[in-house]
Amino acid sequence: MKIAILTSGGDSAGMNAVVRAVVKAGILKGCETWVVREGYEGLVRGNTEAATAGPESVVVPENLPATYRESNINLIQNLRFGDGDLLKDGTGDFLGGRTLKGRYIVRVGFDDVRGWFAEGGTLIGTARSKTFRTPEGRLAAAHNLIKEGIDALVVCGGDGSLTGADVFRSEWPKLVAALLAEGRITKEQASNHAHLKIVGLVGSIDNDMSMTDLTIGAPTALHRICEAIDNINSTAASHSRAFVLEVMGRHCGWLALLAGVSGGADFIFIPERPPVQKSWEDEMCDCIQRHREVGKRKTLVIVAEGAIDNDLNPIRAEYVKDVLTDRLGLDTRVTTLGHTQRGGRPVAFDRVLPTLQGVEAVEALLEATPETPSYMIGVQENKITRVPLMEAVALTRSVSTAIEAKDFDKAMSLRDPEFRE
Ligand code: F6P
Repeated sequence: MKIAILTSGGDSAGMNAVVRAVVKAGILKGCETWVVREGYEGLVRGNTEAATAGPESVVVPENLPATYRESNINLIQNLRFGDGDLLKDGTGDFLGGRTLKGRYIVRVGFDDVRGWFAEGGTLIGTARSKTFRTPEGRLAAAHNLIKEGIDALVVCGGDGSLTGADVFRSEWPKLVAALLAEGRITKEQASNHAHLKIVGLVGSIDNDMSMTDLTIGAPTALHRICEAIDNINSTAASHSRAFVLEVMGRHCGWLALLAGVSGGADFIFIPERPPVQKSWEDEMCDCIQRHREVGKRKTLVIVAEGAIDNDLNPIRAEYVKDVLTDRLGLDTRVTTLGHTQRGGRPVAFDRVLPTLQGVEAVEALLEATPETPSYMIGVQENKITRVPLMEAVALTRSVSTAIEAKDFDKAMSLRDPEFRE
């Protein structure tokens, strides 16, 4: 089997560990392994130029599988230090004497992913591709995969990226037929590529996917927020100030909630559970006042970027600051953590989880048949799981529907089936 892996959507710590695990597990199980640079955009662009030969400098141990020896193409320096602007098609010459210019689908071996467990972001690049959303884009993507003989795809990204993968798989027979009818592939290629195998892994700092307890990158983002809170707490206590901290998470309050618990927040705003009282300003001020009266020298309010009030209006950090200043007379500052939450080295669990899930992804591909659904690899109660990808995506979407219908209990229980008031 020839497996290609891509990362898509917003980057998250641990994506490189996924690539490493899929490449290593794939090779050890006798597969050929490829990376697609720049997410779905790379799939659409494909390879316009043949790869140039690299130096045969790496000594390959004799006892490794043949596929490993064949794929001795040490591209890591190229991937890391090459193309300043990959989407503009790079510059051409790279360290190691190998060029990736005009090549988005690249065969890789063990050496290429060495040490990737510790690297932040995604070294193979990611992009939010508009062209892949068009039928022509997906036709080009199918053609590019078939040209390289690839029959299995691992996608690591959020729910949008995983939906894209499932659409691609369900359209696949139609795409193959169209390519054959246009004479762009041979009959033999069409019959060798009658099906595309797909597996999804969830890479997102938001931890917003249903049917899995944790998404890849969420533990690292949470850790970054905790570090920031520790720093803020000391300066806040020194001046007896209040801080309003805005954190990421899109429509999910997991980062805000867990950061609040680990950092000792006084009040937390999340999308799934707006403040109960109509006037949340009173509710918040009463709570903070009580905390001050028992001797707290500092105040911390965490606002998830998607937080809303009972009327579904956004709650803004700047407005929360004004309320604390005007009503309680607190000297208040706003800190927006932004992308510092997303970047940097993965914490240990964002190396362990993607490694276990990457190995499971390869096994799921090897066992896949045209009848089995595309699986999403998750983790539930500390066990690595396979769940039907589209079921997980549909359940995730139903959280937003419940919020829009103001059914906040339902939204909360869809996020967490164990949830009780
Ligand atoms: O989904 C990950 C995420 O970091 C969200 O938490 C945030 O809303 C969004 O992506 C930011 O996207 P961008 O990097 O495009 O600004």
